[in-house]
Amino acid sequence: MFMKSDCIQTTICQERKKDPIEMFHSGQLVKVSAPMVRYSKLAFRTLVRKYNCDLCYTPMIVAADFVRSVKARDSEFTTNQGDCPLIVQFAANDARLLSDAARIVCPYANGIDINCGCPQRIHDDIIRTVDLCRKAEATGVSWITVHGRTVEERHQPVHYEAIKIIKENMSIPVIANGDIRSLKEAENVWHITGTDGVMVARGLLANPAMFAGYEETPLKCMWDWVDLALELGTPYMCFHQHLMYMMEKITSRQEKRVFNALSSTSAVLDYLTNHYGI
Ligand SMILES: Cc1cc2nc3c(=O)[nH]c(=O)nc-3n(C[C@H](O)[C@H](O)[C@H](O)COP(=O)(O)O)c2cc1C
Repeated sequence: MFMKSDCIQTTICQERKKDPIEMFHSGQLVKVSAPMVRYSKLAFRTLVRKYNCDLCYTPMIVAADFVRSVKARDSEFTTNQGDCPLIVQFAANDARLLSDAARIVCPYANGIDINCGCPQRIHDDIIRTVDLCRKAEATGVSWITVHGRTVEERHQPVHYEAIKIIKENMSIPVIANGDIRSLKEAENVWHITGTDGVMVARGLLANPAMFAGYEETPLKCMWDWVDLALELGTPYMCFHQHLMYMMEKITSRQEKRVFNALSSTSAVLDYLTNHYGI
């Protein structure tokens, strides 16, 4: 179902009553699938929801293109009734365009997220970071997600203690993000930081069943991906790439070379049936 189908609007609004804010106030760990360009699309969101993900983000969408082009709207945003609760992430440098884009997706989403980009990750000086977050809070944002690295950092350990300090200084919910690869790690980060939820990107790409407690991608999850991707119409590159991520830990280097070179849906299906048929 595409967002431009007006006839489904009323039904979807009913579904959208699932309120993320209520989830954050439940005292339970809220498990969030991160915005991921090219990857966190409808089929993937449906998959992770099946495996205990509570809240999903779309990939980043450029607000200006979205407002101006029907083609961009059709290709960038697809949803359906089960795709809930959903946060749509926009990148924008113009408040008017952001608000126009938000108005378009409003009946189909539970919230809008603004991508603040890498430079607004935590700052070396935690006081400046807290100050920035409090400014965001004062503008009326409902919650904030913090990736615990500075601009310069790429592979250094995530500063969970900085996220904890931010949480202690805010009244709105805070979500912790960075380097979480299992449900155990998610619970650990939640305890250490005292935040209201955790957001995961690469961990879910590698294992979409992670929030259900699986240490590596179960075969059932791989086949669920195949079914969902084909049912919801996923471009081949995306279909294949997701499987490459999921199989990273469970296949040998030699098998990976063969699988990664496949170039059609039928070749992938044959390969999976021969190697992982269930
Ligand atoms: C493939 C990929 C695409 C991403 N796309 C986005 C995006 O569209 N918007 C955004 O805010 N962050 C994006 N990110 C950053 C993630 O949301 C997340 O903050 C980052 O990967 C750290 O989390 P992780 O350690 O769980 O991977 C992307 C990350 C990856 C790996």
